[in-house]
Amino acid sequence: MKTPLTHMFGIDIPLFAFSHCRNVVAEVSKAGGMGVLGAAGFSAEHLDEELRWLDAQGHPYGVDLLIPQAHQDIGSHKPTIDELVPDTHRDFVNALLDDAGVPKLPDSDRASLIADQAREINMTPREAEELLEVALAHPIKLLVNALGVPPRHSVERLHVKGIRVGALVGSLAHARAQLQAGIDLIVAQGSEAGGHTGTITSMVLWPQIVDLAGSVPVLAAGGVGRGRQMAAALALGAAGVWCGSVWLGTTESELDPILRQRLFDARAEDAVQTRALTGKPCRALRSLYTDAWDRSDAPPKLPMPLQTLLWLEPRLRVQRARARDWMSYPVGQLVGDLKGPTTTRAVIHDMLEEFLDSVERLKSCVDDKTTAG
Ligand SMILES: Cc1cc2nc3c(=O)[nH]c(=O)nc-3n(C[C@H](O)[C@H](O)[C@H](O)COP(=O)(O)O)c2cc1C
Repeated sequence: MKTPLTHMFGIDIPLFAFSHCRNVVAEVSKAGGMGVLGAAGFSAEHLDEELRWLDAQGHPYGVDLLIPQAHQDIGSHKPTIDELVPDTHRDFVNALLDDAGVPKLPDSDRASLIADQAREINMTPREAEELLEVALAHPIKLLVNALGVPPRHSVERLHVKGIRVGALVGSLAHARAQLQAGIDLIVAQGSEAGGHTGTITSMVLWPQIVDLAGSVPVLAAGGVGRGRQMAAALALGAAGVWCGSVWLGTTESELDPILRQRLFDARAEDAVQTRALTGKPCRALRSLYTDAWDRSDAPPKLPMPLQTLLWLEPRLRVQRARARDWMSYPVGQLVGDLKGPTTTRAVIHDMLEEFLDSVERLKSCVDDKTTAG
């Protein structure tokens, strides 16, 4: 395949895969696409470990950071969650799980279990900067930022090293700001996507951003998991696709088996937009936890990263108790199409095959009309 993005990165398929799992990233790059490792959930040391493993695979890859513009500054000394999160909020979530019979964490381990998890949360600019330094020590080809506009000097610094810079956008206003910052590609993410999203759907957003971006290539994200969707994205002017949810059903993606089964059982409408998990609108699997935050007696959601930190303890309790109906995870409306376990390789193979069929079908529509006319 040939698009401005295959040209930019010297790859065979304009398929970009967002995943927190290094095996998915490596498999997609090995198949001729571009795997991009989501780094927000790693400490600096852990990220370095993951990137060393990816370097050893010998395929090109990128890194995605979550650098929010609007956030609560929690300082540099990493206070404990009990210090950061108001009692009202902790009491609310603890009562939910107590009432549901989900056991508490043992007193002896509680603090260390939560602190271990908190170390892997990097959502402030200061923490994202540390991760950026780690990423820059590796031969990454692409750096993508999810939640804000990178300062021009950061973009220039990456360019000097030959690293391309991309950003996720969900609206024209976001795209305009990113273009002014001098980025190399835009990921236009429709609201059906998993993770933090805006409100405009892919079908409307993609061509708007393509028209605005001019010569800057656009990756279409949000609801792409198969070849017909890839063909639609390219037909709407995108130079490639950026997929996240579809990898969650693959054996390379490290997910709790119970959670994965919940994804296979879910319908498209079970992927709801909620602030319950991170404080920002995030499309995720509906659960008893997300439902509880819609109740009238729920406290106001905290700003990022406090709402994410608040979620750590209930998440640990739910995991340990295997409390299926309380489990949630970011996922897009595509979840309704995930029906059972597969492999990254099979997803790519099927996507390309269906893409080619779609192209043929579109061509035949034009031929038929020409003949009929
Ligand atoms: C589990 C999960 C976690 C995500 N976390 C991030 C993230 O940390 N940074 C980011 O840029 N995008 C994140 N996203 C969004 C993806 O990058 C991508 O834009 C989105 O998944 C595309 O839509 P789709 O889910 O319909 O494929 C996440 C998506 C999922 C499914």
